[in-house]
Amino acid sequence: MSKPVLVLNGPNLNLLGTREPHIYGSNTLKEVEAMCARKAKEVGLTVECRQSNHEGQLVEWIHEAIGGFDGIIINPAAYTHTSVAILDALKNVKAPIIELHISNPHQREEFRHRSFVTPAATATMCGFGVAGYPLAVEAMAGLLEARKAKA
Ligand code: DQA
Repeated sequence: MSKPVLVLNGPNLNLLGTREPHIYGSNTLKEVEAMCARKAKEVGLTVECRQSNHEGQLVEWIHEAIGGFDGIIINPAAYTHTSVAILDALKNVKAPIIELHISNPHQREEFRHRSFVTPAATATMCGFGVAGYPLAVEAMAGLLEARKAKA
């Protein structure tokens, strides 16, 4: 039986809609989560969306995903550029992992050019604005289909 895909959002993404809208757009996190759920339904998946401002909480949710979810879509936000703990947690996940960013961090400050998370990711997506979330759900469906075909 298929399990949901875990959509994880890191620090400050609860402020979507009002946080630097010229970079992150005007949709709220609630709206973005609804976009994920709609797309998931379209492509035959289910999603569970969670957000935390705390690194340890994100690590614990990643642990839950080991065996508990069919895939992870994660926007680690600022922890992208700092967190060995999130990298180490993700390394234990056998399910596909999509690292997602709303902006294109490579066009921004130098400190955003480095991701600690990318080595554990199956795929990365950035720069699509919040439209990247439903795109990532669709891409996840593709990754899961490809895995099924291989098994
Ligand atoms: C972000 C990019 C990060 O550099 C930043 O710290 C965020 C959001 C993005 O989605 O574009 O909080 O991950």
